[in-house]
Amino acid sequence: MSRAIYPGSFDPVTLGHLDIIKRSSEIFDEVIIGVLNNTSKSPLFSLEERVNMLNEVVSDIPNVKAVSFDGLLVEFAKENDIKVIVRGLRAVTDFEYELQMAQSNRKIAPDIDTLFLTTNIEYAYLSSSIVKEFASYGVDVNELVPELVALELKKKMGIDK
Ligand code: PNS
Repeated sequence: MSRAIYPGSFDPVTLGHLDIIKRSSEIFDEVIIGVLNNTSKSPLFSLEERVNMLNEVVSDIPNVKAVSFDGLLVEFAKENDIKVIVRGLRAVTDFEYELQMAQSNRKIAPDIDTLFLTTNIEYAYLSSSIVKEFASYGVDVNELVPELVALELKKKMGIDK
């Protein structure tokens, strides 16, 4: 059985992430969305909130589930018999960081490969940070994130309408 991990912070999940998740689910038998418990960042959404939102938005994709992980990604992958890491590439600006991460991971875990999917052009500019920035100014983010996430963002920002 082919199993891949799509890791990230997902603070929060965007339609760009969801596009990569859907396409990965058509390539692999099983896709685990790995939400990093990064204690050095202070996320808008708690780890539990991020995992729950992800599981809600992928509830119609049977071979995908979100879980949290701590520590090194490749260690988590090994423990779960995962041989492929999926990452999205939006633009050339992502490339340097992604290449470094893929090569570093491969140095310590030669059996694990990174597969890059190019982001749908419609979402090439999109990031969780942009979404949070827009939401903080009351901009409608319904076209950028799943409906549930847009609602949760409004709650976080204290905009309940
Ligand atoms: O969505 P992000 O924040 O760009 O995702 C980054 C992530 C979670 C993929 C990366 O920071 C990661 O894998 N962290 C876990 C710790 C680790 O394995 N570090 C070595 C990577 S070179």
